[in-house]
Amino acid sequence: MATVTAVLHRGVVDSDEPILCADDLGVLRGDGVFETINVREGRAFLLDRHLARMAASAERMEFELPDEAALAALAEQALAAWRESAGGEGALRLVATRGREHGGPPTVFATVDPVSRERILPRRDGLRIATATLGVDADARGRAPWLLGGVKALSYATTMAVMRWAKSQGADDALWVSADGFALEGPTSSLLWLEGETLCTTPVSAGILPGTTSAFLLENAPKAGLKTAERLIPVEELREAEAAWLTSSVRGVAFITSIDGESVDQRPDVTAELDKLAGFDVPS
Ligand SMILES: Cc1ncc(COP(=O)(O)O)c(C=O)c1O
Repeated sequence: MATVTAVLHRGVVDSDEPILCADDLGVLRGDGVFETINVREGRAFLLDRHLARMAASAERMEFELPDEAALAALAEQALAAWRESAGGEGALRLVATRGREHGGPPTVFATVDPVSRERILPRRDGLRIATATLGVDADARGRAPWLLGGVKALSYATTMAVMRWAKSQGADDALWVSADGFALEGPTSSLLWLEGETLCTTPVSAGILPGTTSAFLLENAPKAGLKTAERLIPVEELREAEAAWLTSSVRGVAFITSIDGESVDQRPDVTAELDKLAGFDVPS
């Protein structure tokens, strides 16, 4: 049960109350979009960027989302209830499905849940990564928009499958690698790495989801004395990088400790700077 649930045009409802119909295309087809947003001190971090990405995702999937003001108001209804009930670090989900099979408006709701200690321990302990082929070249999703590269769609079944597979390999998470050998992103996170004093990430042209956390870190990296770049990196080169991280809104900044069982270099000083820039608390 979610801690807080709010439904568009209805407001906060009992989280045990059913809010979807059996013919909702979000359920039948994973046909919808979503955002997961870090909540700290009762406020959603980088909400505007998440709303902009959600609108872009819906546009790519050709369905109409309520405007950003309506979504922001829905988020605020959920957050107000969260502030009253719990507080502390949370995860706000905004979900919009295409709606019911035979037409009608999108189904839109928000939830807020506490963030478990286990979910944020990678900020302290890092992640062991297993590489997994995406099965297509790095430029394929640019040429094939139906693959929905760069869209945060609800259909995350392959995402969940690759994370289960990574765990079966003794890793904590996976790293998608294109068929032509480039490291792209995590199944639910963006890839950053360090070359000298340059913080690098994958270009959006490779079909990755444009991460809000990674974009914020790159924009603010000069404050930590870092230069920035976007480029494709062959996975073999990533293994030799000075440090690499997977970043996402709730997990925060997680340094990579090994790739396919081989230890990789780390820069704890830069990890600490990145945590500071984005304001992530590191659990003790
Ligand atoms: C595929 C993918 N890449 C990157 C990210 C990281 O995005 P953000 O930093 O906006 O959470 C996510 C987040 O869930 C994701 O699903």
